[in-house]
Formats: sequence, C-alpha cells, structure tokens
Amino acid sequence: MYKIAVLPGDGIGPEIVPEAVKVLELVSQKSGIKFLFQEALVGGAAIDACGQALPPETLQLCLESHAVLLGSIGGPQWDNLPHEQRPETAALLPLRKQLGLYANLRPVRVYDALIDASPLKREVVAGTDFVIVRELTGGLYFGPQKREKTPSGERAYDTMLYTKEEIERIVHLAFKVARGRRRRLTSVDKANVLVSSRLWRETVEELKTLYPEVEVEHMYVDNCAMQLVRRPAHFDVLVTENTFGDILSDLAAVLSGSIGMLPSASLGGKTALYEPIHGSAPDIAGQDKANPLATILSAAMMLRYSFGMERAGEVVEEAVLRVLDKGYRTPDIAAPGTTVVGTRKMGELVREELDRIWA
Ligand code: IPM
Ligand code: MG
Repeated sequence: MYKIAVLPGDGIGPEIVPEAVKVLELVSQKSGIKFLFQEALVGGAAIDACGQALPPETLQLCLESHAVLLGSIGGPQWDNLPHEQRPETAALLPLRKQLGLYANLRPVRVYDALIDASPLKREVVAGTDFVIVRELTGGLYFGPQKREKTPSGERAYDTMLYTKEEIERIVHLAFKVARGRRRRLTSVDKANVLVSSRLWRETVEELKTLYPEVEVEHMYVDNCAMQLVRRPAHFDVLVTENTFGDILSDLAAVLSGSIGMLPSASLGGKTALYEPIHGSAPDIAGQDKANPLATILSAAMMLRYSFGMERAGEVVEEAVLRVLDKGYRTPDIAAPGTTVVGTRKMGELVREELDRIWA
C-alpha cells in the first residue's frame, strides 16, 4: 500500500486535485495496488484555517508519505502579507527544501491534437518533446537575501549561490534522464556574466566524461529562450539552475498550447512531490473551468517515478491523449470545432477512457 499526501491548496487546486485523485483511485481498482489518500492544508487555505502556510502536521504527513500530490498555492488575498508569510515563501519553498527535492522534472510535449492551440506555427512546434530538469532547492530562491535601509536609501539583494555538490547532483540526474531519452543534453547558464554559471559549466564539462553516450551542449539562458521558440524540436533534455528553470518552463508551456497541460515531478528525497506547473488561477477558481489535465498527468508521473508503475502511467497518458483526440477541451485549449467541457467532465472523460483501455 502506498500513502499519498493530498494537498489541494488554493484557487483552482481544490477543483483539479480531486480529478487526479479519482484517476488514481481507478488505477488502484484496476491494478489491485492500494493507495491511502490523506488530505492536508497548505498555502493560503492553511493561513486562513490556522495562521500558518505550512502547518507542522502537513509537513509531517508529507514526510511520512510515499508521495505528495499538490494542487496550487497562493492568491490575491495573501499577496500583501509580509514576504516571509506568503504562501509561496512560507509553504512551497520550505516544503521543497524539507523534502530534499532538488530536481524538478518538467516534460514538455506537443500533442498532435493540440498543435493548433499553440500560438506558434504548426511547422515550428511539431515534434516538440523535451524535459526541463530544473534545480529546485538552491540559487536565488534560497541564497542569502535581505532588504535594508542604508544612509543613501533602501536596498535589497538576493544571492545566486551554488555549491559544487548541488550542481553535481542535479547534473548527474540530468545525464541519467538524457541517457534514457534521445541522449542530448543542453546545459543552460549565463556563464558570460555570472560566476555561479562558470562553476556550473565547468562541472558539466567534468561530469560529461562519465556519460560518453550523451551529447552535451552549453547555451546561454537568453539565447535558450529564443531557441525554445524558434526551434523547440531541437531539445531533448535541458538542465538549469532554479530561477532560469522557472522562467524557461513557463515559456516552454506555451508551446504545448496551454500551461494547463504541463505536469511536474520533484525528486531527490525519500518522498517525491507531484504538481502541475501552473499557478492557482484565482480568476477562474470555483467556476469548473480549470484544466485538470496537468494534475492528472502529474499523477501519471507519480505512478512511474514513485511507485514504479510504468504501465499504469502510460495508460493514464494514453487516456488523456484519447480524450483530446475525441475533441474534448477545457476553455484554455478550446478551438473551433471542439467540444468545450468543464473540470469535472474532463476528469470523468479521462476515467472513462482509462476504464476502456484497461478493461
Ligand atoms: C513554479 C512556481 C513557483 C516557483 C512559485 C509559485 C513560487 O512558479 O513552480 O514554477 O517559482 O517555483
Ligand atoms: Mg514558475
């Protein structure tokens, strides 16, 4: 039996997470493998209920679970809290840090059925299929930061700090991911300006001798942003530091038609965490409009990476594909000639397909 901590969070989180949980319940029925779901509060919802974005019970539950399924965190109600109390800085970042999740895998795939939902031309995005391996517990997000008054006025700083060891472990992981794919690794940095990037680049150069079958290239992050839009099908695995990965993954999400499609897995510790890459979308929360597919696809990654249920993960992905092929769309990916459905209906359609495939 696997214990899954379920943290719906804020905004659309409580709408999309139950759809993914029901998919996992169906997988459990089909496979005979039991999942124990335990829900807990996190983010703004937890601030409202108990005054803390990451209550100790929630962290404890996560540490004792085999995997965590997270919805989304944050919203305008909590934007004006002091910096260190905001849902992002008080819940999401400590959760990643405490669980030791230094590697964030963000696969970006352009589904044929959605190719016209992308704002880029069909011939540019066709064949896009890459993974961003984002470092998740270092860099600007966790380096020394301060806001202070000085005689000449206020100032503030964040620090992009990396130890060699932090770089090594994420680069090793990226090489291993590349080895299982098309064996091309793009390391993204800003080594023409930043010393942390110089260390990053040198480390990649050192480690590449251990993975001779993987072809390595280095790319500056500004150029990478351009190349991702110009020739996305070029990429296989990208590895980069925390902030660059955050920015590039939103950019990459557009290729797939909608940020509502992209799942992620955060690995590195005993318990892994799975969450869609999108935010809490307060503008559409509570309206049954949100796309649950990124969360459902995150659950598929959980089946693979946390439970070794490769086939089950594939079946969930196949079910999503079939629903899209049949022309069903949530509003974010709607196009002329397609059938627009809500969050709940989309979840139900995926489960119907799953039931058919895994008869
Ligand atoms: C993400 C998000 C988070 C991040 C925010 C919500 C703190 O943008 O997971 O990409 O910056 O890591
Ligand atoms: Mg982000």
